[in-house]
Amino acid sequence: MFQDKCRILANEPICGNFYRLVLESKSIAAAAVPGQFLNIRVEQGTDFLLRRPLSIHEIKKNSVSIIYKTVGRGTGKLSLKKPKESLDVIGPLGKGYTLSDGKAVLVGGGTGVASLKFLAADLINKQQAAVVVMIGARTREEVLCGNEFSELGCKVEICTEDGTLGFKGMVTSLLKQYLSVMGAHPRVVYACGPMPMLKEVGRLTSHFRIPCEVSLEEHMGCGVGACMGCVVPARNGGYLRVCKDGPVFDAREVAL
Ligand SMILES: Cc1cc2nc3c(=O)[nH]c(=O)nc-3n(C[C@H](O)[C@H](O)[C@H](O)COP(=O)(O)OP(=O)(O)OC[C@H]3O[C@@H](n4cnc5c(N)ncnc54)[C@H](O)[C@@H]3O)c2cc1C
Ligand code: FES
Repeated sequence: MFQDKCRILANEPICGNFYRLVLESKSIAAAAVPGQFLNIRVEQGTDFLLRRPLSIHEIKKNSVSIIYKTVGRGTGKLSLKKPKESLDVIGPLGKGYTLSDGKAVLVGGGTGVASLKFLAADLINKQQAAVVVMIGARTREEVLCGNEFSELGCKVEICTEDGTLGFKGMVTSLLKQYLSVMGAHPRVVYACGPMPMLKEVGRLTSHFRIPCEVSLEEHMGCGVGACMGCVVPARNGGYLRVCKDGPVFDAREVAL
């Protein structure tokens, strides 16, 4: 884990209210694994004391990218930052995905799609896995990264709630159809997105007896395991810290 003053290389809108932020950091890029996140201080001074946790989307030799949606004051402020300014960043943080070979299905909803690109790249490049990505969004303008996944060599399935692109309905309905087909049986399912989506993915994979890892986007305080501000109930009792024990968990480990 490093604390770096990272120079902004790019910070641009990509679609809807989504932005791509590229930060220069050789040390974070070298240490990061898929599923980990950065904790970013969007402004110095007392107004924005709490850092904002954002998943690592892509790694290059000297840079780390994230994709974020402007939802409030912090991400709004972040969207105004310009190249050559710098940001105080702590990372990489948390426990990432366990890489598996064979066939993998990646399910992303909303901003949860962002963290899956780094995962897909490592599954393909390091594990020679066959990767199917299911991208869920409310409407076609909010479909994230479809081309990026295709360029990596993934089979991409798009799903919009209003039916303006791809399968009409929830991404979990598409997953259910996919898993119901004889012979589709993937070795593992990975999912990142809103809690109701993760809950349904956990239920389906348990029904079909397929191992599943979920990445949670809980509200956070310190981001390093000290404040207990991010805890979720564990299935076997007690609590788990999303920032330190996760954000990626075996779906059977957490009470979704
Ligand atoms: C491990 C992790 C990874 C994340 N990765 C991404 C990512 O890659 N891209 C992305 O766009 N967002 C991601 N998030 C969510 C992101 O951290 C929040 O959207 C951000 O902190 C909101 O800050 P804000 O000041 O703009 O919003 P606020 O003004 O604080 O809140 C605005 C709205 O966003 C909700 N919100 C605030 N924080 C969170 C949170 N941590 N999780 C869910 N909802 C929240 C609030 O309830 C409120 O409705 C991630 C969160 C976690 C914990
Ligand atoms: S945010 Fe403080 S323990 Fe997780």
